[in-house]
Amino acid sequence: MHASLLPSLTMEDYQHQLLTVIGGLICFCALVKCIRFMKYVFPHTWSALPQAFFPSLGEWAVVTGAGDGLGKAYSFELAKRGLNVVMISRTLEKLQRVAADIEQATGQKVKIIQADFTKNSVYENIEKGLQGLEIGVLVNNVGMLHNPLPCRFLNAPDIDENLVNCNIISATKMTQIILKQMEPRQKGLILNLSSGLGTFPCPLYTMYSASKAFICTFSKALQAEYRAKGIIIQVVAPYGVSTPMTMHQKPGLITKTAEEFVSESLDYVTFGDEIFGCLAHEILACVLRLIPLWVFHSDRLQEAVLHLFTSYLKKRWRKP
Ligand SMILES: NC(=O)c1ccc[n+]([C@@H]2O[C@H](COP(=O)([O-])OP(=O)(O)OC[C@H]3O[C@@H](n4cnc5c(N)ncnc54)[C@H](OP(=O)(O)O)[C@@H]3O)[C@@H](O)[C@H]2O)c1
Repeated sequence: MHASLLPSLTMEDYQHQLLTVIGGLICFCALVKCIRFMKYVFPHTWSALPQAFFPSLGEWAVVTGAGDGLGKAYSFELAKRGLNVVMISRTLEKLQRVAADIEQATGQKVKIIQADFTKNSVYENIEKGLQGLEIGVLVNNVGMLHNPLPCRFLNAPDIDENLVNCNIISATKMTQIILKQMEPRQKGLILNLSSGLGTFPCPLYTMYSASKAFICTFSKALQAEYRAKGIIIQVVAPYGVSTPMTMHQKPGLITKTAEEFVSESLDYVTFGDEIFGCLAHEILACVLRLIPLWVFHSDRLQEAVLHLFTSYLKKRWRKP
């Protein structure tokens, strides 16, 4: 066709068409995100796990930091879902009490191993204790927050080595011990507890945030290595759960009880290599992602966090 017969497009027409295409693409992406988000709203409809899912991975679950808080809730919930549980934690009496409760409530076997994960000498004993067990699930849950209230790096307690051992080394060592027996069986589930504060560089919780960022990266990279071998590795990044670590904050819209959080997050284990663990935290993560990092890093916000957030947190602390 002769060029002069084509309708001539002006610069304005081009701009209009370009903006229409970009707008369409943005709407399409938003729609896909909304549809994908539905899985957290209707987990049982979207991808219901069969009753036998957890026992099909192996007979035993291993949970670190299992004497209280989220670890105790994971131990209970995994036993309810048909697994025997090895609980590893620091205080023997607490472990014995919780183990007896779980055995009585669920009829599953529970084994306990006492270990303080701030020490690097505990792994030989743990490996011995796990010998001969077919482990289907590992929950790398143990972690410490050495400054429950926000504070600047130089004002925080000087126990960085303990924090690194407990929050980082524990996850890598436990994974080493257990993944090597999951690999030949070509099945297993490893849940690594990070934190919402580990998904961005969070000032005033600098060491904790950095240690949890390690867990996110470690977990996602490992999943890429072992996905093809049939092993699910997922990082769980909660925002607020009422446990001893958070001074038993009053549960509410965002702060969940450990039992609520764990039961919901175990329904999400096939939802990808990173989850926030419950619907409320998934929504919160979406909202926080819209806020540019410079806002979190501004001096003004940090001052406000140091004063207002500290007194807000103190008001919500409860006795266990
Ligand atoms: N709670 C939250 O809001 C929240 C939010 C984001 C991420 N997380 C992460 O979720 C995980 C569990 O948190 P949580 O709030 O349940 O923790 P928690 O309440 O402080 O701890 C629960 C258990 O961990 C054990 N533990 C602590 N330090 C230990 C050590 N060095 N060696 C062995 N066991 C140790 C405690 O032992 P004892 O029985 O001796 O006290 C207790 O049984 C952590 O990795 C945490 O960073 C929690």
